[in-house]
Amino acid sequence: MKNVVIISSSMRKGNSDKLCDYFQKGVIESRNKVERINLRDIELKFCLACRDCYNFGNCTQNDDMNKIYPIIKAADVLVLATPIYYGEMSGQLKVFLDRLYPLFTSIGKKDIYLIASCYENDTSFIDSSLKSIKRVLSDFGLVNIKGIVYGENTDEPNDISSKQLLAAYNKGKAI
Ligand SMILES: Cc1cc2nc3c(=O)[nH]c(=O)nc-3n(C[C@H](O)[C@H](O)[C@H](O)COP(=O)(O)O)c2cc1C
Repeated sequence: MKNVVIISSSMRKGNSDKLCDYFQKGVIESRNKVERINLRDIELKFCLACRDCYNFGNCTQNDDMNKIYPIIKAADVLVLATPIYYGEMSGQLKVFLDRLYPLFTSIGKKDIYLIASCYENDTSFIDSSLKSIKRVLSDFGLVNIKGIVYGENTDEPNDISSKQLLAAYNKGKAI
């Protein structure tokens, strides 16, 4: 049984979050274990670049990341979901990735899935917008991108289509 962790970074229950819901349903049906973390529901402070994690091995800030570090470490599969803002991952997801610095050399091997939504009706726009996420992940040694779930052509929170949701479900089920 695989241990799947889904990080949903949109501040609204919109398109990328709904893709997470369907991906999660698929994972549950495949009888793997799944944990969902919505960044809008947690206290997430900025990285202070204090290097306490570097010198002492853990983050000395007191917020919800302390509970999340062991969850990320134990994951076999990490799913990162983001709305595209200005051709980039969301600021929330970037802050989350910054705060993973304490795990920089110890995060372990994981399969990665990326989920993204944007108003451009073009999946290649999403591919180019995900370049910096992939770069950050490769700094952690996470290069095994197993799949991308596309939520192109969406702007209002309910714009995601049933076809796109089905694709998310199928990817989750195939884990
Ligand atoms: C600050 C901001 C910047 C955005 N920049 C882009 C962009 O560069 N390209 C694009 O296609 N959509 C852009 N969008 C639209 C969102 O990506 C789109 O509404 C998406 O469906 C949001 O996903 P969500 O429903 O999961 O939050 C932007 C939206 C916001 C709020």
